[in-house]
Amino acid sequence: MKIAVVGTGYVGLVTGTCLTEIGHNVTCIDIDQNKVNKMREGISPIYEPGLDELMKKNIQEKRLFFTTDHNEGFEGADVIYIAVGTPEKKDGSANLSFVEQVAKDIATHVKKDVIVVTKSTVPVGTNDWIKGVIQKNLVNNVKVDIVSNPEFLREGAAIYDSFNGDRIVVGTDNEAAANIIEEINKPFGIPVFKTDIRSAEMIKYAANAFLATKISFINEISNICEKVGANVEEVANGMGQDNRIGSQFLNAGIGYGGSCFPKDTKALIQIAGNVNYEFELLKGVVRVNQKQQEMLLNKLEERFDSLEGKKIAILGLAFKPNTDDMREAASIVITKHLIEKGANVVAFDPVAMENAKKILDSKINFASNTIEAIKDSDAVLILTEWNEFKDLNICTFEEYMKQPVIFDGRNCFDLVEVKKHRVEYHSIGRPPLINEKLITVK
Ligand code: UDX
Repeated sequence: MKIAVVGTGYVGLVTGTCLTEIGHNVTCIDIDQNKVNKMREGISPIYEPGLDELMKKNIQEKRLFFTTDHNEGFEGADVIYIAVGTPEKKDGSANLSFVEQVAKDIATHVKKDVIVVTKSTVPVGTNDWIKGVIQKNLVNNVKVDIVSNPEFLREGAAIYDSFNGDRIVVGTDNEAAANIIEEINKPFGIPVFKTDIRSAEMIKYAANAFLATKISFINEISNICEKVGANVEEVANGMGQDNRIGSQFLNAGIGYGGSCFPKDTKALIQIAGNVNYEFELLKGVVRVNQKQQEMLLNKLEERFDSLEGKKIAILGLAFKPNTDDMREAASIVITKHLIEKGANVVAFDPVAMENAKKILDSKINFASNTIEAIKDSDAVLILTEWNEFKDLNICTFEEYMKQPVIFDGRNCFDLVEVKKHRVEYHSIGRPPLINEKLITVK
């Protein structure tokens, strides 16, 4: 199959590259010439474990191509994937201007029958609208079928998920088109769930909203655990063993961030609102998530008389490990607040520092490693559960900090282990541990 993918963000590039890995011929189209030049050399513009290697291999084997030219990219394509961004507008709804532009480009350039597959997350009804835009602007007399094929890839594990996903959702009103998309994906060995277009569009939003709900739910439970003296990890474990609940996405922390959950939950509230339905549960999920980012700060402020002039070390800036993505990361809100309170903030992240420097307050100092960040600090805040931090020996905090006061927003350490050390340790939904022999200042 000859395939074109429009948009080389993380969805488009991962999708295009993985399709070449299973034998297809793919041309990725992007308007950014610099980005295209780099990708032609097998250099990915995003940090995604394993992606560069897969790109290089398939470029070498002449299956993966990059261009800025739609004419060249669409030439002979049997299938065109739309994978451009749908950023959040001020009112929470999805901005479809990039999708609209691609639909017009397709209408202008295609010269043979083609299947258009939408990977971008778009509100229910958008695929019908895309079909309309293409039909209205079509230059040549060709047949265009539309398929909704939402992605469920996790950043940092996107390659793994491409080959090991639970299902591939294919939504269309055309059986022949559904069969072709199923055939294209067959080598992945993942079950294909065929449905109608609108249900496919809804599945993506409903799945993300449900996962976000699970996170906000366990975060609220963690807040109650702290007050009643229970341990949220034990609770999540005990709950998760019930197959009807499942153990995943029950890690309490400082809330969800990233490019999907915050945007998609708000978009679904909008989608419901547009048909006069108030999605009360999801509104609560979003509110709880905002509140959760502040919980760690509240603990810090309760602990110290003032943050003025205190050296606060931040470990982890990315919204989650194994990515350099800073979108909607809790670190944005948390560091901003610390700077406002006059703290001297020193941050370190193994991968996301370059992106962080572009968006975080200029008063933040960036360390080149963990030790440099925590050295002589009054408190440390762990915001991303990178293995590098989880593997730290607690002695490191004792040895290098001015006073080993740890606020762990991701429950990186085992309480039994922490107890053995002369540290003060606050985590999420678990009892605080304060070594009696430790003398600290407030
Ligand atoms: C998510 C979905 O998992 C994926 O299917 C969809 O296509 C895109 O959005 P992603 O945003 O890459 O993927 O990351 P994910 O691993 O789902 O984590 C999202 C956020 O939730 C992160 O900030 C993470 O720290 C947080 N999270 C996740 C929790 O706080 N607790 C959990 O138990 C799980």
